Amino acid sequence: MTASPLAQLQEQTTDLLATVAAWQTLDELLEGEVFVTGKRSILSALQKSLGSLEPEARKGAGAQLQEARRSVEAAVAQKRAELESAARIVALEADRLDLGDVVSSAVRVPYSHGHPGIVAATQRELEDVFVGMGFRVADGPEVETDWYNFEALNIPPAHPSRGMWDTFYVELGDPETVVLRTHTSPTQIHLMEAAVASDSLPIHSVMPGRCYRRDTPDARHLAAFHQIEGLVVDRGITFADLAGVIDTFTKAYFGADMQSRLRPAFFPFTEPSAEFEITCTICRGEGCRTCSHTGWIELGGCGMLDPAVLAAVGIDGDEWSGFAFGFGIDRCAQMRHQIADMRALIENDVRFLRQLS
Ligand code: DAH
Repeated sequence: MTASPLAQLQEQTTDLLATVAAWQTLDELLEGEVFVTGKRSILSALQKSLGSLEPEARKGAGAQLQEARRSVEAAVAQKRAELESAARIVALEADRLDLGDVVSSAVRVPYSHGHPGIVAATQRELEDVFVGMGFRVADGPEVETDWYNFEALNIPPAHPSRGMWDTFYVELGDPETVVLRTHTSPTQIHLMEAAVASDSLPIHSVMPGRCYRRDTPDARHLAAFHQIEGLVVDRGITFADLAGVIDTFTKAYFGADMQSRLRPAFFPFTEPSAEFEITCTICRGEGCRTCSHTGWIELGGCGMLDPAVLAAVGIDGDEWSGFAFGFGIDRCAQMRHQIADMRALIENDVRFLRQLS
């Protein structure tokens, strides 16, 4: 009679349990499992060898082997639970948010609070100055029909002066040409129409907002930029009122030692028209490269409302007169903060933004 294949089962089981007990990591378990309880284990080999036993002996041996397998499998299951739980703790520890750490790094690198962008801040300051002078602040659409952006402002279709504004067209002519407004001047038309409709003249308003031109951005131009428009319609308004408002604004916004002056110019919607210049903010009038050694820099356009514009909105030019002006908000910010290249205003370089906080 041959020895039972299970003669060594006791020792073999003890060895298997020792192997399982020695596993330190989940990887060791995953790699070793197949040799302990899986296809390549001694238990599986013994299982196969039972086939050679007498039926009676096979029964008893089968039960013994079953018992051994159960104990080894239980040990593996317990080890798996142990190692998984240890791995979870390691992972959680790695993910732990130490609030103490956050506080101490906040001390090293102070939080930077957001602040209004330089253009928005400039717009607000400009509005404040004009509100202080008795103006109201009004808004207008950025998408305009040809009539508001041009025709009502005395710029007929195909008029050569349209070349002053490189226009983005939204829709051509069907039923109406629609454009991105090239200046804030069309808001004048909206305000005058509304005042006529509600019989609420006079008007003393400023109208800030975004404008668009097909300009290639450079140090002094952006394709999307901001202007602020001014409009006064009242009885007995003269050119002296316009000059006074421009000069008062210049001193209030740029500084009491600053001067303004008006130079004859042409705009279709004003007659007479002027460009207004202020003391160069870089050299304070001494003469420098920025002002081409004149001591002056141009800020915007202005003039007395052209009778054709008053007629377009149905205002009686015999009773009412007025003036308008318009200039770039970005340009103002550039001059006030001495920003060499206007593109810095839209690049959102945080190093630049921090300097102007
Ligand atoms: N709209 C003009 C421009 O963008 C600026 C301007 C000139 C506005 C004269 C006015 C004005 O109100 O009277 O070039």
